[in-house]
Amino acid sequence: MTGVISVFGAKGSPGVSFVAAGLARRLAEGAVDVLALDADAEDGALALGLGLHETDGGAALARSAGLGVITPEVLRRAAAPAGRRLWLLECQASSELPGGALLAAAAAAGFGAVVADLGHLPGRLQRELASASAWLSWVVLPDRLGLDRADRLLASPPLAAASSGLVFNRIGRQTLKGAEPVLSERHQLPILARIPEGARAARKPLAELARAVAPAAAPAVAAWP
Ligand SMILES: Nc1ncnc2c1ncn2[C@@H]1O[C@H](COP(=O)(O)OP(=O)(O)O)[C@@H](O)[C@H]1O
Ligand SMILES: [Mg+2]
Repeated sequence: MTGVISVFGAKGSPGVSFVAAGLARRLAEGAVDVLALDADAEDGALALGLGLHETDGGAALARSAGLGVITPEVLRRAAAPAGRRLWLLECQASSELPGGALLAAAAAAGFGAVVADLGHLPGRLQRELASASAWLSWVVLPDRLGLDRADRLLASPPLAAASSGLVFNRIGRQTLKGAEPVLSERHQLPILARIPEGARAARKPLAELARAVAPAAAPAVAAWP
């Protein structure tokens, strides 16, 4: 059991759902069942990131939660299949949800790995999920605006987890040269991945991210193209 891996980003750093979906996909290539949890309070788009178009937006989970029970079995029933060894649970719209700690515990007990998309707006559910997480990955767009906003956010992070690290997304022409290690050193956060533009190009760094945050669940290196 790997526990929950949360993904969050400052405003101005898009890619939270892209990274969460890609990470969940890479983990699902390993030997454990993976749950992708959409807990973005503003714009739940993890389904889209996973290539699913029609889901019930968390209504099934809300119904079960309304009965006061959240167990690994309930989560399994409420989750939508999203591929081999991969399920999606949307909980961004459910106001009747139990505490994030309970949800995280049931998810971690029912699946080999859980990836939570916390979006960009930290509320109660996001804070509770983060503090129940083994890892919190901060997605940062390494242009001037993205770095500035991430720098300010990380000075008093609204979310805390057991371990945290930086995921630089859309490495390329807009990247501010030399700024990534500065952010990493200033906030004492390891750089977990540097992801370029493009789904194909992102595969390998996302696989490395999977290995960094969930060594027991990630597939063996030889399984990757
Ligand atoms: N590294 C990347 N390569 C290609 N497309 C990306 C990358 N990062 C983000 N995107 C795309 O940019 C858009 C916004 O990203 P998304 O992950 O939905 O942002 P967020 O969840 O942070 O609001 C999506 O269409 C997503 O597929
Ligand atoms: Mg999103």
